[in-house]
Amino acid sequence: MKNRIKDLLKKRKAVMLAHNYQPMEIQELADFCGDSLELSIKASQTDADVIVFCGVHFMAETASVLSPEKVVLLPRKDAGCPMADMVTPETLKKMLADLPPMPVVTYVNSPASVKALSTICCTSANALKVVESLKEDELLMVPDRNLARNTAARTGKRIHFWNGYCPVHDHISPEAVKKTKGKYPDAIFMAHPECRPEVVELADAALSTSGMIRFAKESKSKSFIVGTEVGMIGPLRRANPDKNFYPVSETMICADMKKIVVEDIVRSLECMEGEVKVPENIRRPALKAVQRMIELSI
Ligand code: 13P
Ligand code: SF4
Repeated sequence: MKNRIKDLLKKRKAVMLAHNYQPMEIQELADFCGDSLELSIKASQTDADVIVFCGVHFMAETASVLSPEKVVLLPRKDAGCPMADMVTPETLKKMLADLPPMPVVTYVNSPASVKALSTICCTSANALKVVESLKEDELLMVPDRNLARNTAARTGKRIHFWNGYCPVHDHISPEAVKKTKGKYPDAIFMAHPECRPEVVELADAALSTSGMIRFAKESKSKSFIVGTEVGMIGPLRRANPDKNFYPVSETMICADMKKIVVEDIVRSLECMEGEVKVPENIRRPALKAVQRMIELSI
């Protein structure tokens, strides 16, 4: 299967991108692994004809927004993101109608049709930088209430937030963190900004998935409690074989991130199946918001 994928990638002039939460056997086959921001940047820079995106739907959509001339394949079309589904253009327009005019900062975990209504996008790696780049002191962040509140805690700006959340991260309680800390008292606690503010308050650092890999590498500490999807334990251990990583909870599993299996990648490349394409009337305004974020980040 692995050789077949390598041959097909060559034949199709394709690049394979994988999110850090993907199973390790998929990450090992990928040309590039990373967090949402890094994968967006890669998707905007590749000269391949085809992008095979091993992640979830909004990530493949963002690649299509950035590279309309390329075929973007999501090997499992039903790999979605429950948080991204919590906001629609209709519900966003309704909320905006009740607020004074203000910029909209949209987390990349959102549909392209919502990005199309936004001022700028952000990821967990650059949310504060994006918010601080705006001249306005009052803004709306969608769809993640936790990312919005965690960002608000670090800026003087007034942030209105949408009531969306990631079920995987939101379900972690401060009690669960305290319990794991009790088991590993010397460990550093790294939390993802999608966790609740009460959880992030207990963290030594709030980081994107790739931010966690860098942080652990640079840290003198030998042990880390990981406050994000359990798939992160694999890439953290691979990058830091001499250090220990403990999930804050074994229940932090994103079912959507585990949908793609190696056979799906073969089928997708063989039959060019699972194309994700954003219509031009949505793509153009969405591109503005994504591009504005990328320009701040490279
Ligand atoms: P990162 O951008 O930090 O990789 O996060 C993506 C995500 O979906 C977290 O749940
Ligand atoms: Fe979406 Fe949460 Fe899964 Fe990330 S972990 S893809 S935010 S459901």
